[in-house]
Amino acid sequence: MLFLGFTSSKLSKDEAIKLKSNTKILGRMGSIGLILLSVSGVYLILPFWNALAYMPMLQIKLLFFVVLIGFLAVMNIMERKAMKSDQPDGLYRKLEILGKLALTTTLTIVVLAVLVFH
Ligand code: HEM
Repeated sequence: MLFLGFTSSKLSKDEAIKLKSNTKILGRMGSIGLILLSVSGVYLILPFWNALAYMPMLQIKLLFFVVLIGFLAVMNIMERKAMKSDQPDGLYRKLEILGKLALTTTLTIVVLAVLVFH
């Protein structure tokens, strides 16, 4: 997803729209993946719920998950705006930065999860 964002930020508006509509199904898959991760996460965390107060890294992981959802929501809104806008270049540049932040957040979540549970 993030790489699609990077690529489309380097194309003209028409090309970007074409790429995005051709890869819409991939975007759907990303959202479904996020939902599955949340649902399975809730089940996985139930046994740890009472110990959560003593697991600061797990707390930080959950916090970063919320931050990630925030980034993705903002990116979604900006992308929709960029699609409608006549001058979307600035928006796509911001989207690229947000995409990198979201990728960093995801990697941090994985590192935290492994540090806590492995
Ligand atoms: C982008 C989101 C997420 C990523 C990339 C992620 C990644 C991971 C990874 C890689 C592990 C395995 C760690 C290991 O065994 O070394 C793990 C375990 C775990 N995750 Fe997540 N996770 C995410 C979201 C969530 C959410 C939202 C929750 C809770 C609501 C959650 C709760 C847990 C729990 C409780 C475990 C430990 C399961 C066990 O070993 O019994 N995760 N996660």
